[in-house]
Parts: sequence; C-alpha cells; structure tokens
Amino acid sequence: MENSEELIICRCQEVTEQEILDAIRDGADTVDGVKRRTRACMGLCQGKTCGRLVQRLVARETGQKPDDVFLQKNRMPARPLKMGDFCGGNENV
Ligand code: FES
Repeated sequence: MENSEELIICRCQEVTEQEILDAIRDGADTVDGVKRRTRACMGLCQGKTCGRLVQRLVARETGQKPDDVFLQKNRMPARPLKMGDFCGGNENV
C-alpha cells in the first residue's frame, strides 16, 4: 500500500492524499475548502475523477457521513474565444 505522500488523489493537478489531509487539518471541512487550498478538483476533468475521493477523505477526517459533505459546485469548462465571436462573428472587430 502506498503511503499518503505518494498516493495521488487528483491526477489532473497531481495532488496527493497527504496534501489533502494537510488541508483538512488546516481547517478545510468541505470539498470546496480542500479545492481552494490544494487545487484538487480544478483540473481538466473538473473533479469528476477525484471529487468523490476528496469528499470521502473530508468525511472520514471530520467525522461526517460522506453524503453530508457537500460535493463541489460544478462549473462549465472555460474555453478561450476570439473577440469576434462576441460581435456576431466579425473577425475585424
Ligand atoms: S482528477 Fe482532480 S480535477 Fe481531474
């Protein structure tokens, strides 16, 4: 079994279990709190892969039931747009 310093929980941001545990001990008691401290759940998949794992770690470490730990708010992925896309497709704007 890997130790928590090597075990990657968030593959997108390469956040280890130990970093998440440190964030929880630093006061994070929600998935969003862990997210703000570690950047877990902020990668390409937006937490679809790691969100439940972070939720379970928060629940275990804070003595809550996993279902009582609110899963992060999902946000639409941001994509770069050309300025012309805002102006009806006119590339010269
Ligand atoms: S695995 Fe954490 S954001 Fe993708």
